[in-house]
Amino acid sequence: MAHALIVEDDADSARMLTTLVGAQGFSATTASSLRHAREQLAATHPDLVLLDLQLPDGSGMQLFDEQRLIANSEVVLMTGYASLETSIQALRCGAADYLVKPVSGRQLQGILSRVTRPSALHAEVRDLKQELERSGRFGALVGRSASMQRVYEQIARVAATSVTVLVTGECGTGKELVARAVHDMSRRRARPFVAVNCGAISPNLIESEIFGHERGSFTGADRLHQGYFERAHGGTLFLDEITEMPPALQVKLLRVLETGSFMRVGSTQLLETDVRVIAATNRNPAKAVAGGTLREDLYWRLNVFPIELPPLRDRIEDLPLLAQHFLRELGQSEGLFKRVTREALAQLAQHRWPGNVRELRNVLQCAYVMTTSPEIGGVALPREASRGRADDGSGVLQIDVGAPLATIERQVILATLEHFGQHRERAAAALGVSLKTLYNRLKNYGL
Ligand SMILES: Nc1ncnc2c1ncn2[C@@H]1O[C@H](COP(=O)(O)OP(=O)(O)OP(=O)(O)O)[C@@H](O)[C@H]1O
Ligand SMILES: [Mg+2]
Repeated sequence: MAHALIVEDDADSARMLTTLVGAQGFSATTASSLRHAREQLAATHPDLVLLDLQLPDGSGMQLFDEQRLIANSEVVLMTGYASLETSIQALRCGAADYLVKPVSGRQLQGILSRVTRPSALHAEVRDLKQELERSGRFGALVGRSASMQRVYEQIARVAATSVTVLVTGECGTGKELVARAVHDMSRRRARPFVAVNCGAISPNLIESEIFGHERGSFTGADRLHQGYFERAHGGTLFLDEITEMPPALQVKLLRVLETGSFMRVGSTQLLETDVRVIAATNRNPAKAVAGGTLREDLYWRLNVFPIELPPLRDRIEDLPLLAQHFLRELGQSEGLFKRVTREALAQLAQHRWPGNVRELRNVLQCAYVMTTSPEIGGVALPREASRGRADDGSGVLQIDVGAPLATIERQVILATLEHFGQHRERAAAALGVSLKTLYNRLKNYGL
């Protein structure tokens, strides 16, 4: 039978918690002070410690300074909302999770059902690290550059907890893979991983998609609908493109993260939730806050544990490993193995990879199909000129310092045309040139 130590100075709470953990099959002892807790830790070696932070002889946090005593126990903090900051600090020191007081039976049950001895999780992380040394991959993530190793450390560190994670990085850097890795290494792995792209759902429907709705709550709501929060119960909810979520809904999400409960659309009944939220964005979150697409309070709440993915061009030393990985996958699915020559790899390493790992995978797929021999000696890369395009509809053009003026002029003209949907009058007006000048330029470009 697993054993729990309840460190709580309020006798009523301690009794209630003893009953709750008892109902989950734990034996329990209680301690009402830090001193008492140290004695009990040494004597009973509990699997689980429920730790109140405010104790008569000091802060529960002090136990984290005594790793020898707590190294083999899973520590779950109990805290009032006001001390959220402290909990965050504790999670960074090594607590496995936290509960907000008053602790409800359901919350506790959620945590207890996932209790794994830290030693088991540690063993798993050790295996993954050995695999990394050997093959350069960490689960589904490929790469052994220093920046990716830092990412793996963070994944291993946060997976065991329930804290919210914010994954940032350019498009195609592997944000969704990271979210899955966190889920797969967590105690939630047997429960659902639900991925939601906030940018892909109509703003009118997103609230009912996320929180669900009651029958009859709006026209067309002809039956009760479970939202993503309910469907992800016990597991992980991945909110991709979080900056696309309407601001009013961001407020509601923040409330769920703070209270652990929500309401279906058209209902007044609070439902408790046990879901870990992982959010992602390919924008700079601080800029999104400044630009008003991400609420600042939500940002701080999500940013408890940030993981930033490096762009491929900043870890180009991983490119050969990644290329090998994708070609092996292709070989397996197509039944014919091909490899890239050293020259082709050198060529690939020169590219800037704006679409990151996804772009690399696409380029290799194309090269695999186009090459008849088992050696891929040259690769068709998107032309450098395409770098000058306002590719994301942002209306911003990237221009290389040192490029000839004529090239820059051409980039600006083509991007402006694209911006105005090829409408020549409007493009000419915006550029401040006559329509005739624009036509002449286009003729010179052979268009
Ligand atoms: N480190 C990696 N190792 C292996 N494959 C990777 C890695 N990073 C990304 N990929 C592959 O690249 C593709 C894109 O990854 P993913 O969808 O996770 O990126 P993303 O950052 O979420 O992109 P977006 O911002 O466009 O949503 C996937 O096919 C994924 O398998
Ligand atoms: Mg993604």
